[in-house]
Amino acid sequence: MSQDTADVTHQIPDRIPISLIVNGNRRTLDLVPWTSLLDALRDHLALTGTKKGCDHGQCGACTVLVDGRRVNSCLMLAVMTDGAEITTVEGLASDGALHPLQQAFIDHDAFQCGYCTPGQICSAAGLLAEGHAGDADEIRELMSGNLCRCGAYPNIVAAIQQAMGLP
Ligand code: FES
Ligand code: FES
Repeated sequence: MSQDTADVTHQIPDRIPISLIVNGNRRTLDLVPWTSLLDALRDHLALTGTKKGCDHGQCGACTVLVDGRRVNSCLMLAVMTDGAEITTVEGLASDGALHPLQQAFIDHDAFQCGYCTPGQICSAAGLLAEGHAGDADEIRELMSGNLCRCGAYPNIVAAIQQAMGLP
């Protein structure tokens, strides 16, 4: 190892303190710098609704909202989200009432094993906020980053259409 590399390595702290608003509650964490947001949520905050599918940004099972934008939490370092507002599937219901997307997924039988469902619902919540989808084809396109190994896609699209008030 060169002297320069050794110096840089020496400067990386063992742990970094961060503060997040998670589902409306402030949470503080002290994390090793390479902790993904997904692992911070699941392993440090015990919010296991968000799922780890591929851990490589390919399946969407880990989708959460960061300051209202949907992201694959397995691809984001938790320290990059210091100060952000994070919404996971646990934060979507309010006052004991399901989020309209959660109700729509039930109404349309839009899950089978349910493993992809938290990511699908968080991604759909982001899609609604983005306001770019006007019909089923656009929903399919804009949800294409969320894979479902059970193949519940027609029901998922129907559920999102219901939540959007589309025919
Ligand atoms: S677990 Fe993050 S995209 Fe698959
Ligand atoms: S419901 Fe099983 S992976 Fe989607």
